[in-house]
Amino acid sequence: MSTGIETLKGRDLLGLADLTSLEVLSLLELAAQIKAGKVNPHCPKVLGLLFTKASTRTRVSFSVGMYRLGGQVIDLRPDATQVGRGEPLEDTARVLDRYLDVLAIRTYEQQDLITFAQYASIPVINALTDLEHPCQIFADLLTLREAFGQLEGLTLTYLGDGNNVAHSLLLGCALVGVNIRVATPKDYQPLPNFVEKAKMLAGDRSSVLITTDPQAAVDGAHALYTDVWASMGQEDLASNRIPIFQPYQVNLSLLAKADTDAIVLHCLPAHRGEEITTDVLEGSQSRVWDQAENRLHTQQALLASVLGAKIE
Ligand code: CP
Ligand code: NVA
Repeated sequence: MSTGIETLKGRDLLGLADLTSLEVLSLLELAAQIKAGKVNPHCPKVLGLLFTKASTRTRVSFSVGMYRLGGQVIDLRPDATQVGRGEPLEDTARVLDRYLDVLAIRTYEQQDLITFAQYASIPVINALTDLEHPCQIFADLLTLREAFGQLEGLTLTYLGDGNNVAHSLLLGCALVGVNIRVATPKDYQPLPNFVEKAKMLAGDRSSVLITTDPQAAVDGAHALYTDVWASMGQEDLASNRIPIFQPYQVNLSLLAKADTDAIVLHCLPAHRGEEITTDVLEGSQSRVWDQAENRLHTQQALLASVLGAKIE
C-alpha cells in the first residue's frame, strides 16, 4: 500500500516531534482510507490502556479502533491494578511489556511516559499528558483536510490556554505546513521549547505566531480552535481563570473576523459559555462532531501502523 502502513512499526509516540512530516501525512492518508472503507487493516493483538486521568473519546476510540483491527483491549485502571498502590513504573513497564503488544498511557507527568518507554520494548503511545496530546492532533488535521481538501497553506488559530493541546497543535501544524497562531493571556502562553521546536519544524514552509491579541489572531483564519481554560488537574484554578480568559472566548463576534469558510474545532469536552459559546459550538461552521469521529479513524490507523498490521 502506497501510504506505507508499516512506517511506524514498533515505534513509540511520546510527542508529535517523534514523527516526520511524511509520517504524519501518511498516517492521515491511512486514516482517510480506513474511514472510506478502502482498506481494512487486520491485527489480532492486545492493547493496554493505562489512564490515570478521565477520558471518553480517547479511551473509546482506542478501544473500538483496536476491536476493528481484530484485536483486544485491556483497561488497566489504576484503582484495579497495583499501579494505584504505588508499584514502581519501571517494574510495571517491564511486566506489561511481556503481556501486551502496545500500550497507550494517559497521565500527568511526561517523564512517567518516558520511563515506561525506556523500560518497555512495545510501542508506548501518549494518550495525553500535561505537556502533549498528540493523538488528538491527527483527528484535527484529518478534519481540516476533509474541510479544505489540503493542509498546506491553511491558517489555524488556537485561542485559550497554552496547554497540552496547544503544544501538540503547534508541532502538528508545523509538521504539515499549516500556519499556526496561538492567542493566550500573557501568563498562559505555550512553553518556549514547544514554540521553538514548532518554528524549527515549520522552517520557511509555514508560520508560527504566539500572541496575546485574539482579534488579530483570528483575522482571515481558516479554523478557530479552542480547549478548556483549566485542564484536568487544574480544576481548583478554573473560576479564577474565567475573567482572564474571557477575551479569548470563541463566539460569533470573533468568528466573524475569520475567513467566511472558516471551521470551528474543539477537542472536547467543551464548557459552553466559557471557552466557546453554544451558538458557535452548535452552529453551521462547527466541525466538532466530525473531529470527534475522526479520533476513531486516526487511532485505528495509528495502532495499525505501530503494530505493522496486514492490510486486507
Ligand atoms: N479530546 C479528548 O481527548 O477527549 P477525552 O478526554 O474524552 O479522551
Ligand atoms: N487540555 C485538556 C484536554 C482534554 C482532552 C486537558 O488536559 O484536560
